[in-house]
Amino acid sequence: MPHAVSLFSGCGGSDAGIIASGFDVLMANDRLSYARDVYLANHPTTDYQVCDIKTISKFPKAELLVGCYPCQGFSQGGARDASRTINTLYLEFARALKQVKPKAFIVENVSGMVRTNFRHLLNDQFKVFSEAGYDVSAQVLNAVDYGVAQNRKRIFIVGIKKKIGVEYAFPSPTHGVQLANPHNTLRDVIGDLPVWPEGEFYDADFHWYYLSRNRRQDWDSASKTIVASQRHMPLHPISPQLIKLGTDEWKFVSNERARRFSYREAARIQGFCKDFIFPDTPASNMNMRYTVVGNAVPPQLFQAVANALPNIWD
Ligand SMILES: C[S@@+](CC[C@H](N)C(=O)[O-])C[C@H]1O[C@@H](n2cnc3c(N)ncnc32)[C@H](O)[C@@H]1O
Repeated sequence: MPHAVSLFSGCGGSDAGIIASGFDVLMANDRLSYARDVYLANHPTTDYQVCDIKTISKFPKAELLVGCYPCQGFSQGGARDASRTINTLYLEFARALKQVKPKAFIVENVSGMVRTNFRHLLNDQFKVFSEAGYDVSAQVLNAVDYGVAQNRKRIFIVGIKKKIGVEYAFPSPTHGVQLANPHNTLRDVIGDLPVWPEGEFYDADFHWYYLSRNRRQDWDSASKTIVASQRHMPLHPISPQLIKLGTDEWKFVSNERARRFSYREAARIQGFCKDFIFPDTPASNMNMRYTVVGNAVPPQLFQAVANALPNIWD
């Protein structure tokens, strides 16, 4: 079984994908202790180090390196400031790449990275990874096209060691109109769960910013993007519909009770398996549960990208 090292691992969405693809994750890292608690409750054999990546001086050797460095700087919801230091964590990934010397690597990040004001950072990632000896390719994929019941567009950067001389081809969509499988829907992934799981959803009021756009989809649609903020979590389809009043202004069609997705529903919509464990630990609270779930890469999507790697492991 080929080995992997995982960075910016969170609670293990990306890693659930590579484990399903046949990799053994030797080491993982994140600075959030609740991310570690969730990860180890589900994948207990990985050496999970909770610390700032900058403090790690030695990484083990492995055939695959994966990492989803944070994205606040690039994301729609974030500050979109190209100069923030959070945007240069790819240099930490590159530092690990030079030590781990994997045959291949996979990076995931928000699709906002392709925007003009961030393009220089994306170009620099290509340059740094190429100089480290990798053929690099990138593509924006939408999770809904790979069996996830959620519209979530993310950029994937894949590198294969130049001296192996094999090209990477991104996987073709498996779900959608005129494909073998239709898109999965909210009904498919959360239809079996209780409709009012009191205590498992963030129940604060909906302020004007929340109501500045449509946050609701019907049962037979895929979800809007699951975010890491409980406050901005999309609405459960049990909620009344929203109608547009004007620019950036929406309101509920009735006074019936509305609610956001619970963290457990959000995990299902991200594609975590039904028995994925969110343990109660000293670091757990509702906000942390939403955070680690919303930060995650949908496992099926990461698995599809890993499955498309050529067989270069022997
Ligand atoms: C996009 S999330 C990764 C999600 C993860 N791959 C998954 O699928 O569950 C980025 C992660 O980077 C972590 N992070 C941010 N800065 C870090 C740093 N300096 N050192 C270690 N981890 C960091 C965050 O805590 C967050 O969990």
